[in-house]
Amino acid sequence: MRPFALAAVLSAVVVASAKQIVITVGDPLSSDNATTVFRPAEVKANIGDVVLFNFTQGNHSATQSTFASPCIPAHDTNVTINGFNSDLRPTNNGTAITNLPVTITTNDTIWFYDIATCAEGGVGGININDSSTETLEGFERNAIRLNGTSTSSSSAASATSTSPSGTSSGSTASRTPTNGSTNAAERVVVRALAAAVPMALVAMLL
Ligand SMILES: *[C@@H]1O[C@H](CO)[C@@H](O)[C@H](O)[C@H]1NC(C)=O
Ligand SMILES: *[C@@H]1O[C@H](CO)[C@@H](O)[C@H](O)[C@H]1NC(C)=O
Ligand SMILES: *[C@@H]1O[C@H](CO)[C@@H](O)[C@H](O)[C@H]1NC(C)=O
Ligand SMILES: *[C@@H]1O[C@H](CO)[C@@H](O)[C@H](O)[C@H]1NC(C)=O
Ligand SMILES: *[C@@H]1O[C@H](CO)[C@@H](O)[C@H](O)[C@H]1NC(C)=O
Ligand SMILES: *[C@@H]1O[C@H](CO)[C@@H](O)[C@H](O)[C@H]1NC(C)=O
Ligand SMILES: *[C@@H]1O[C@H](CO)[C@@H](O)[C@H](O)[C@H]1NC(C)=O
Ligand SMILES: *[C@@H]1O[C@H](CO)[C@@H](O)[C@H](O)[C@H]1NC(C)=O
Ligand SMILES: *[C@@H]1O[C@H](CO)[C@@H](O)[C@H](O)[C@H]1NC(C)=O
Repeated sequence: MRPFALAAVLSAVVVASAKQIVITVGDPLSSDNATTVFRPAEVKANIGDVVLFNFTQGNHSATQSTFASPCIPAHDTNVTINGFNSDLRPTNNGTAITNLPVTITTNDTIWFYDIATCAEGGVGGININDSSTETLEGFERNAIRLNGTSTSSSSAASATSTSPSGTSSGSTASRTPTNGSTNAAERVVVRALAAAVPMALVAMLL
């Protein structure tokens, strides 16, 4: 069937050009505050790329949320979003480094936070729209103002749940210990992602 053939070609193209983008998750350095838990806090990624959260210090999480409710899992405020959630990842003083790969499936902005420091501004975003009023600074202010708890708007959950089949929820994130087998380059590591594509966890925004 032509559509399937086309899809196969497109996915081959996506895999061939997919990037891995590393976000280091760790305690703020002594001179920093919680806004530096994610380094960098903002990245750009294409569909098919993998954003890899690398938990290197402290006891933090990478949990998807929404702009209006920075410190609440996205699925809790909008049931149509099957967001990722690493849960807290203690690193045992940096001796138990783990990571969470998130395969990008949308061009929309993906907002996320750290359960431990959200109320102090421990947040970040993927593909933040530079022309939008929803900025990283605004998201940080929201998180601090709401102190990690309530939402800023009455977010009536949509009744039209279109839960995607075949994608597992964030709670089944695989915990993959890595002890520094790859090189230490922190930013963009380009490589074939044949192994990373079938990851159970995707950022699924419908
Ligand atoms: C945290 O650090 C950022 C970047 O240095 C700075 O812009 C912000 O004002 C700081 N926030 C607090 C609450 O100190
Ligand atoms: C990580 O943080 C959570 C929440 O504060 C806490 O319950 C848990 O004991 C911590 N784990 C370690 C190993 O510190
Ligand atoms: C981390 O290191 C400090 C200082 O060496 C020690 O007091 C603490 O118990 C360690 N924490 C863990 C979780 O190993
Ligand atoms: C995502 O953005 C890319 C680059 O702008 C574009 O080519 C592609 O069609 C977009 N995909 C979707 C699903 O919007
Ligand atoms: C970015 O935001 C602007 C202003 O809201 C909007 O017109 C534009 O369509 C947005 N771009 C994307 C890719 O969502
Ligand atoms: C923020 O929340 C924490 C615990 O959730 C609480 O201890 C603290 O007093 C709150 N701060 C403000 C300014 O409301
Ligand atoms: C990786 O972890 C294993 C098991 O804990 C350990 O034996 C090994 O030395 C570690 N390798 C590195 C490079 O840290
Ligand atoms: C994660 O961080 C550790 C410690 O800095 C580093 O050794 C490792 O290479 C990083 N992993 C990736 C995939 O960048
Ligand atoms: C929930 O998320 C979907 C997908 O991002 C969006 O289209 C919808 O407007 C959201 N619903 C609410 C109530 O925010």
